[in-house]
This record gives sequence, C-alpha cells and structure tokens, in this order.
Amino acid sequence: MSGGSHAGPSDWYKDAVIYEVRVPSFYDSNGDGCGDLRGLIARLDYLVDLGVSALWLLPLCPSPGRDDGYDISDYEGVSPEVGTLEDLKALLDAAHARGLRVITELVLNHTSDKHPWFQRARRAPKGSPDREWFVWSDDPSRYKGARIIFSDFEKSNWTWDDEAQAYYWHRFYHHQPDLNYDHAPVRDAMLAVVDHWFALGVDGLRLDAVPYLYEREGTSSENLPETHAFLKTLRARVDERWEGRMLLAEANQWPEDAVKYFGDGDECHMAFHFPLMPRLFMAMRREERRPITEILARTPDIPANCQWALFLRNHDELTLEMVTGEERDYLWREYARDPQARLNLGIRRRLAPLLFNDRRRMELMNALLLSLPGTPVLYYGDEIGMGDDLALGDRNGVRTPMQWSPDRNAGFSPADGSKLVLPLVTDPEYHWQTINVENQRRNESSLLNWTRRLLRLRAKHPAFGRGSAIFVDAGTEHAFAFVREHEGDRVLVVCNLSRFYRPLSLELSRWKGLVPVEMFGGVRFPEIGEGRWPVSLGPRGFCWFELKPPEPAA
Ligand code: BGC
Repeated sequence: MSGGSHAGPSDWYKDAVIYEVRVPSFYDSNGDGCGDLRGLIARLDYLVDLGVSALWLLPLCPSPGRDDGYDISDYEGVSPEVGTLEDLKALLDAAHARGLRVITELVLNHTSDKHPWFQRARRAPKGSPDREWFVWSDDPSRYKGARIIFSDFEKSNWTWDDEAQAYYWHRFYHHQPDLNYDHAPVRDAMLAVVDHWFALGVDGLRLDAVPYLYEREGTSSENLPETHAFLKTLRARVDERWEGRMLLAEANQWPEDAVKYFGDGDECHMAFHFPLMPRLFMAMRREERRPITEILARTPDIPANCQWALFLRNHDELTLEMVTGEERDYLWREYARDPQARLNLGIRRRLAPLLFNDRRRMELMNALLLSLPGTPVLYYGDEIGMGDDLALGDRNGVRTPMQWSPDRNAGFSPADGSKLVLPLVTDPEYHWQTINVENQRRNESSLLNWTRRLLRLRAKHPAFGRGSAIFVDAGTEHAFAFVREHEGDRVLVVCNLSRFYRPLSLELSRWKGLVPVEMFGGVRFPEIGEGRWPVSLGPRGFCWFELKPPEPAA
C-alpha cells in the first residue's frame, strides 16, 4: 500500500531541510482572515525558491483550538478553518510535484476533552471498556513522580470530572486528557490514525509529546519501556505498509533518553535534539564553544538509519527544561530580562529578537543549524527575521501572520484587519511594512537572500546531511570548528563565537595536502600543510570551506 508519489531514497529525511509552517498564519486564500491549505499551495513556489525540501505542518485536525490544535476532537479530519481533506490532498499533490515532502502531526498522548472518545468515557460506568480509554483515579496523589509541564497554567496532572465522578490524568492542559495506552483499543485506534494519514500521502509524522504515553507509580512516567514497546509496534507497521515514510519523535529529553526513541533503528527515524538548542544560545552569549561540544560529547551515536532534527526556534517557547537550574537562570537573565518573555520553563520569543536583531548573530546561528550533524528545521518567518508580540498570550506571540509584503495586512490576507487570526507585528523594529518577503526579495543582501544562498550551498554537499563530524581544535575556546565528511565530500566549518576579530590556528593535519575553498565566493585558501592551519575571522564570523585536492600543476 502507498499513497501519493514518493520518489527518491527511503532515507530522504537525512538530506532534508524542513520548514515548519503554522497554516493559519501562512497565507489566507479565501479572505476570511485565517491562513489555509489553499493559501499554502499558493506559496509553495516561495518555499521551493527558498530551498527547503520538506514542510512540517502544525496540527490540521478539527479542534476546539485551546492549544492551537494540539487538542484534537477528530483525528481523521481537517479543521474547517484551514480547509478540507480535498484541500489537503491537493496540497500533497502540489508539494510532491515540486519535490517537497510533507510532515504532519500525530498527537498520540492526549485528545481534547471535546473528543467523542472522552465524552463517551466520562459517561461510561467505572471499569467499563469505554471508560478505560482515558486514565482515571479516585485519588489525585497517584503518579506523583510526573512533573507538571505547563507549570504556568496547571497545578496538578489530575483534574476532577463531575460527570465521571473521578479525576482524569493530563500531562498538558486540563482540557487535554491523556489517552490510556494500557487499553488495547486505544493502541489500535492510534495505529489506524497512522494508516489514515499515510494513506492520504503524507511523508512523515511528528510524534507529539511521545515520552508520556504510559504512566507508572514510582517513576517519572516518562520514557517508560512500555512506550518504547509501543513505538516498536508502530514502526513495524509502518515498515510493513508504508515504505519511505518517516517518524519524528518530539521527546524533550536528555540525549541519553532521547536516543532511545531511535531504538535499534526500529523506533523513530528522527528525533529532535532538544538539549543542543539552548546550548547554542549559551555558546553565543558566553562566546565560547564549550556548551555545544559538551552536549555533543554527551550525545551517544545513533543507528545508521536514523537522524537528529536540529532547530533554533519553533512554535513553542524556547524550552529550558534540558539545562541545569544555574544555566536556566543564566539564559533567562541574558535572553529574557523582560519577565513577560518567560513562559513555563522557557522563553517565548522568535529568533531575531532573541539575537538582538543582530544580523551577524543570526547568520552564525543559522550557519551552525545548517552544518551541525542532523537535519535542520527552520521556523516560518525566521528567514526574514520576523519579530514577535509579547502582548499576546501563551505562545501566540511567535505565531503571528507571515509578513509577505508592505501591502494591506502584510499581504497575508485581504480581510478586514480586525478579522485576522492573530494581529500582525507592529513593533517599529520589526514592523511588517519593513520586514517582509517582498522587500527582502528586492534587496540582494537581505537575510532572505542570504538564507537562500546558504541553503543552496548546503544542498550541494551531501556531507552536511550524511557526513561524519570531526571536531577540530582551533587554538581558542572562542572558536568552534569541525569537518563533515561523506564519501569524498569534505566540508570544513569554522566559527568565531566572539564579538572580536580572532586569529585562529586549526589542527587539520589529517587533511594535509587539501585546499580549503570558501564556498560563498569559491576563493581558494592556502593548502593545509605541516603544523597548524591559520585563518582569521571577524566578529561572530563563520566560514564554510570545501576541502579539495590541489589542482594539478599546469
Ligand atoms: C507541542 C505544543 C503543545 C503540547 C501539547 C507539544 O510538545 O509542541 O505546542 O502545546 O505538545 O500537545
């Protein structure tokens, strides 16, 4: 069985560059103020031109919308806000015709409290099979070891339900009851949901909140063996029925726990590397590489058919769960002085404001994102340096409409401004009249055009997606350098994390005799010889070099 067209290698995710889209905020095709699937189709050529190869679409299913669609009330439909199943099929066809893959959400852990399964369960007699679809208790002190994730909003993982006369379990908002994976019909139902989306032709599924499927007394109720056993069943089914499709684990965990979502190459194909992300910001601020190298050293090897997904920002707060308390205080102090910017254990800001709207820092961070081992995930709008809106609640400030042009409503929608799904950013520094795709297309040195060029360079070198990574001493803690190698393709990445000019001297003796050629300009640098290889970089500068054999003498 298979749906849609899926040409190319089955491990396409290794060479991919993923672009994360919030469909309601991307482009409104029918003038109702809300972005939609037809609007996304109309903007696919923009994404091809940008140079990404896969789209990750935030939740599309019908939902009361109290957690931006992560509160699902029907797993097999499409929310009327964004369109119909037919529109989704049209999007898949249009994307595949352009060589773009499409990844959608699989919200396994919980439903909306409006989902018919929950409505049925709360009315069903205690202990009956229908009741068992969710996790109930008379005693709200069970599973005490489980932390509260939305700590700014929820005081307990249990909420009393009058109808059921019992407490129900939820790891997120109280209106998102957790499904009970100990109940076989739940497991079967979710496997059927997987079949439904793959049959439609989606190329990958992001497994939302996957560590929390089971709960057990005396544990943290995260990463339990039962969860991994279920994932192995899920993967076996995908391998049997859905060739070339991908599963991406959203497991916000320490590296040693996160790698377990790859299993022995028999669970998820990909997993987000959560702990790396805050350490990139830490390294930028401290102007030293150690936070990055330490976490990479702590990251176990992964099975050959697997790949990390790397990101700088996404639709959630920049989570600081995977750092120590001291590091969190440091990052809050340095990146979120304004208490309004803090949310749960994180920072609710976009990339540009986090990086002080400093072009050098944005380039350096993107260069790292696109060259470290893994598949990069870009968040919509960050390619033009969009700002955010702290006046909006929860995480909405980083979910505002895409800024396409200086025209009415930033070219996002022809609707009356008051009807927009979320307000446009009007902070003078990031105002949509200035920061938008049209303006940046015209300016050859814009962030958008720079990002396009960087993506084109990346696409030429399989080493970025598939290569080994060898870290190289550069003579100072302020620099970070590494070589990526894959089947004769060799790339040297050198970064100066400091705000000052720096002379560097790189230990490259194992590549002696090769010539570093800078990729943007094709300029040949001196051949790597005996001793250290010297190079100087400007403040927060970086270079990508291809390591080439010397040209034969004329
Ligand atoms: C998603 C969030 C969502 C949560 C609950 C996450 O990990 O990324 O946006 O609120 O799951 O579904």
